[in-house]
Amino acid sequence: MPIVYCGTIVHTKSFDEFESFKQGFIAVEDGKIIGIGNDYQSWLATAKIDPKTLTEVRLSEFQFLSPGFCDAHIHAPQYAQIGLGMSVPLLDWLNKYTFPTEAKYVDQEFALEIYRAVVEATLRCGTTLASYFATNDLSSTLILAKEAARQGQRALIGKVCSNCNSPDYYVESTNVAVEGTEEFVAAIRKLENPLVLPTITPRFALSCSKELLQRLGDIARSQDVHVQSHISENLQEIQVVKDIFKTSYAGAYDDAGLLTKKTVMAHGVHLEDDEIALLRERGTAIIHCPASNTNLNSGLCDVQRLIKAGITVGLGTDVAGGNSVSILNAIQRTLDVSKHLEFFKKQHICGTGSAKVQDNDYQQLSYKQAFYLATLGGAKALALDHITGNFAVGKDFDALLVDVSVLEKPHRALTVDELLEKFIFTADDRNITAVFVAGKRVKG
Ligand code: GUN
Ligand code: ZN
Repeated sequence: MPIVYCGTIVHTKSFDEFESFKQGFIAVEDGKIIGIGNDYQSWLATAKIDPKTLTEVRLSEFQFLSPGFCDAHIHAPQYAQIGLGMSVPLLDWLNKYTFPTEAKYVDQEFALEIYRAVVEATLRCGTTLASYFATNDLSSTLILAKEAARQGQRALIGKVCSNCNSPDYYVESTNVAVEGTEEFVAAIRKLENPLVLPTITPRFALSCSKELLQRLGDIARSQDVHVQSHISENLQEIQVVKDIFKTSYAGAYDDAGLLTKKTVMAHGVHLEDDEIALLRERGTAIIHCPASNTNLNSGLCDVQRLIKAGITVGLGTDVAGGNSVSILNAIQRTLDVSKHLEFFKKQHICGTGSAKVQDNDYQQLSYKQAFYLATLGGAKALALDHITGNFAVGKDFDALLVDVSVLEKPHRALTVDELLEKFIFTADDRNITAVFVAGKRVKG
């Protein structure tokens, strides 16, 4: 039986195209959107639907529907260490905090406990689509996939691969990495759950040999699978990658055929112009992770520069370089970073990497653009925008019911733009009162 939600609806159609319906409607049947717009009555007439067969849900003055959030870069196992080591630069942080944590996931009970908690927490915060790194361990990575499926989250899941420049207790051989990846892809496909997909996951160029990258690139191509990794996050890391691979960071992945239309690369803080051009040519997306970049002192990523160059950008929490599982928090921090960049560029304070260009005309991101990055931008980055990311007939109903009056009732009526602005700058997971994935209520 179709359900129709009547009230305020907001979503985006592109980076610069925000659309809202003040007294709109969305009709949903079998998890898919069958109608959307302003004029419910004429839709009913043309769709030839008897109103008595519909369930109507009327939203209140301070409620609205938003597309679900996309966390396009999150490390599920690192939820166990969230908030620790938050001022340590990347390579030291990996050695001191992260590799010891991830090595524990050979313990399947521990894995189940943390993976259950992280999927619950991200759903609570409105993440309807997540791209997860697991660990090197194949069995527990399958536990994460099953947990996402059980809780009804749309998810890409990757068995992490690393065969060098890693501690003895957390490294695998090339064959184990490749065969484990093949086995994992086959196992996920066997689940036959349309919400859960595999993604090839070389940890980063630094922890993978050329041969491993090449063989993972071969799997990505021959099996048409997604790819995720890290790129150009930290200046020290970049130098080591260049020294080993004798090419640019993007070049190291491209030589292995890992830059595809279904590839997302986290960070890209310090990319050179020719690397950005290469990513654009390959259709590879960048995932901006502002919390992590701040915590690990990696730098300020210039999202405007990437967008202007034609790169698709999504947002990631990068738990646990990031200290919050909330994409709403990532939106807020994206806006902070963007404001700082504008200040630097206009004051002619020279930074490094992408922050070094002086620009008197620099425009900070608007809250609507950041909202795009968190929804449709992420879905596009993950090549899933034909299914999710905004509201359109034929797409799945992946949505958030937001109520800005939960914590404090506004003292006057708000326009639609004000509802969204207030949500973005003042809300948290308590304001997300229901979450839907493919029409199924997964929170609230
Ligand atoms: N580069 C390689 N591994 C990681 C990781 O776990 N987190 C972040 N932020 N960067 C990485
Ligand atoms: Zn990461």
